[in-house]
Amino acid sequence: MQVQVYEDPMRIAAVAVGHIETALQSGEGSPTLGVATGSSPGEVYALLRHRHAAGEFSLRGVSAVALDEYRGLPAGAAQRYRTVLSTELLGPERTGLRQEDLHVPDADAVDPQTAAMHFEGRIAALGGVDLQLLGLGANGHIGFNEPGTSFAARTHLTRLAESTRRANARFFDHELHRMPQYAMTQGLATILDAREIVLIAVGAGKAEAVRAMVQGPLTEDCPASILQEHPQVSVLLDPAAASQLNGTPRS
Ligand code: GLP
Repeated sequence: MQVQVYEDPMRIAAVAVGHIETALQSGEGSPTLGVATGSSPGEVYALLRHRHAAGEFSLRGVSAVALDEYRGLPAGAAQRYRTVLSTELLGPERTGLRQEDLHVPDADAVDPQTAAMHFEGRIAALGGVDLQLLGLGANGHIGFNEPGTSFAARTHLTRLAESTRRANARFFDHELHRMPQYAMTQGLATILDAREIVLIAVGAGKAEAVRAMVQGPLTEDCPASILQEHPQVSVLLDPAAASQLNGTPRS
């Protein structure tokens, strides 16, 4: 794991975008980018749009694979991750990503197990994920793999931890009852299959999870600790998120 700490949040986005551009250029065939939601990747997407507007970058011809999706929200709801990712990335006015190239798990499927297998098959058919962008839950989750999830898990429907529901209620006007109970997420084994991973965490609220992920034991109590096993992970932090680490280099 390569841990880097940046004072300036724009540097975090710039470094992440640098990784994305390199990974998408060096992938064989048509490249695939794993995209995350939540607040952590917001500046990365803004920078990708900026670079697209300047004619320096495009996601046209790139496939984008989402990490996860809520179950039980109305089609088109602003909080659905398909909506969020569409608003961030889709179309020539954003990053050039085409609608048909955005793949999101079908969390509302009547048969979630089959839908999850179908999603795994889709990733395989795309040739795997070249670079997966990740955020980090304050409880150590990645995607929606909550504490206690098996490291061997592949895409599956999961019940959200109450701490996650409370944390994400801010996207539902802080009305906890509107926050879904279930979501479909790539499993930890699915995420680990990505050739490269870039994880962004900012703020003191993530500091304990960052410490457990980077310097704690490999344990399903901290799902993100499995990233210690991946050969190419960059962890991009601000000083607050890095504050519980021992001896981290400053960039
Ligand atoms: C959410 C998402 C994750 C995200 C994480 C952190 O619940 N399912 O994919 O990385 O929690 O979110 P944020 O970046 O908003 O702190």
